[in-house]
Amino acid sequence: MEKVIGIDLGTTNSCVAIAEGDSPTVIPNRGGYKTTPSMVAVTEAGKRLVGHIAKRQAITNAENTVYAAKRLIGRKWNSPPSMAAKETVPYSIVSGPHDDVRLALRDRTYSVPEISAMILQEMKIIAEDYLGDDVTKAVITVPAYFNDNQRQATRDAGTIAGLEVIRIINEPTAAALAYGFGKKIDRLVAVYDLGGGTFDISVLEIGANEVFRVISTAGDTFLGGEDFDARIMDWLIQGFKEEHGIDLRSDRMALQRLKDAAEKAKMDLSSQLETEINLPFIISAGQNEALHLQRSLRRETLEDLCEDLVQRTIDICGATIQEAGLSKSEIEDVILVGGMTRMAAVQRRVAEFFNREPCKGVHPDEVVALGAAIQAMALMDQTKDMLLLDVTPHTLGIMVVGGYFEEVIPQNSTVPTSRSKIFTTVRDNQTAVKILVLQGESKRAEENELLGEFIMSGLRRAPKGQVEIEVTFEINADGIVSVSAKDLETGLKQSITVTASSGLTEDEIRNMAAESQDFLIERRASEEFEKARQEAERIIREIDRMFAEVEHMVQGSEFGQEALAKARSIIEKARQAIAERHLEQLTTAIDTLKRTQKMFKGVLSRS
Ligand SMILES: Nc1ncnc2c1ncn2[C@@H]1O[C@H](COP(=O)(O)OP(=O)(O)OP(=O)(O)O)[C@@H](O)[C@H]1O
Ligand SMILES: [Mg+2]
Repeated sequence: MEKVIGIDLGTTNSCVAIAEGDSPTVIPNRGGYKTTPSMVAVTEAGKRLVGHIAKRQAITNAENTVYAAKRLIGRKWNSPPSMAAKETVPYSIVSGPHDDVRLALRDRTYSVPEISAMILQEMKIIAEDYLGDDVTKAVITVPAYFNDNQRQATRDAGTIAGLEVIRIINEPTAAALAYGFGKKIDRLVAVYDLGGGTFDISVLEIGANEVFRVISTAGDTFLGGEDFDARIMDWLIQGFKEEHGIDLRSDRMALQRLKDAAEKAKMDLSSQLETEINLPFIISAGQNEALHLQRSLRRETLEDLCEDLVQRTIDICGATIQEAGLSKSEIEDVILVGGMTRMAAVQRRVAEFFNREPCKGVHPDEVVALGAAIQAMALMDQTKDMLLLDVTPHTLGIMVVGGYFEEVIPQNSTVPTSRSKIFTTVRDNQTAVKILVLQGESKRAEENELLGEFIMSGLRRAPKGQVEIEVTFEINADGIVSVSAKDLETGLKQSITVTASSGLTEDEIRNMAAESQDFLIERRASEEFEKARQEAERIIREIDRMFAEVEHMVQGSEFGQEALAKARSIIEKARQAIAERHLEQLTTAIDTLKRTQKMFKGVLSRS
């Protein structure tokens, strides 16, 4: 059966897993790590770096290193999160042609799905290396609270990376799947997922018959570890300013170092009560003088700095439990997901809120990818009896007269779902109707997320109120919205996919996919060359080592001299192929080198 991977495309870390047989496993990357930093960089030479190698050079190449791109995916340029990110990240965020966000790295700009695609492609490569086979299909997870624009943009990222995204599933749902699959349990669980960039809470019912039914979900797609880091950074910057009168924000390299130090301090404080932050030579203060930053941070201080952030997650938990029509005491298991749940204050507050200790035994960094892999397996193997019923996190609706928002599909409806609405013309001889589709919970349309608009045109002329159009709104299992319309009298149909208003066009996606494929081919070729180069150099060293002795032994033999000359020449040829990066010539040279090496060994063994 075709292998389908599950990818947790995280704000901070990404993880890939596969389910073979019945048990899912996380696939380690080449460095042996089970998660890969969601970072992408472009070097001075124009090379793309992804993952650990991008992270390692972040300080010295801060302007061209992107982290937390997920916070920007599917966002409009003028949205508050884009503006907030613009103020704080060292890379430059610019406006794109569709009112979208683009990132300027070196001499060109990239859409956010392109950056995410580079990470997805890296995960695909990790899986292919491990499986020794091509991988073309994936299940990708998104925060449960992602809206349609963010989901579509994530799907586009998959396409650009050369992956057929067979399903988008919600991160907390995936976690619950990994937690409950095969356990034959009947339980009401809450999944609290606080990662690097986003927060989700989902309440689910797990049935012993492998039915996973989400009852309600809520979250904040701009609340996560990044915000905790930012609080520590602010605290450090403020203190430094008070002491030295210098604003460290003016220096991008200093900022990147501060960010690393802030995150490290935060992590330290999960296991200890106090930590030292030490950044020598953080900034220069005039000639020959450098200033150092050194402070100690106590767990209590960190908790004070971040108190409101934790409180926000707790408030959202309260709201969603209520929305589910449940009381807290009915929740039987609380599952903690995401690296931020290692923070003591988070664990404590969650335990207090639910009045129970969270479950142990779930790996907070891997469980989402494992769930995605289980879902992938179930989608491919029809014999697997597993049913996943998720909900839509936001109310879907349209704008009506007066700028109000009218609900069409309420939040927490089980997906897939569809709902129809009849619209009538409001003017005599009206031939077109424009419909604005939005998602959100505000009564005012403009405060909700605009998914797109469509115009139903070519209506027959008639007095107002006499033309009736039935519009059907559909949300599929990926949580993605589509709309179709029908003139009830003529039966005239129009099918309109609500194209995300800040999304990419089909053409753009196709071009980006082609380019990313080129990069992949180039990368594979350069890896192959690298392997050949190492092999050639190893054999050359070996031949070199034997050379003098062989030369001594074949002294006086014409045939021997000839063989030595040939050996010299082939070494020369191999070196030239390496210098010219000519893979084909190098491969041929390696064959001859191997024969020479064998011959030398033969000569020596006879001595
Ligand atoms: N020991 C720790 N103590 C506190 N925070 C930690 C610890 N380990 C990791 N983190 C934080 O967890 C966050 C990363 O978590 P995770 O990898 O689950 O996020 P993600 O899946 O990439 O993000 P998201 O799910 O929001 O898209 C980072 O902010 C990191 O600093
Ligand atoms: Mg996550």
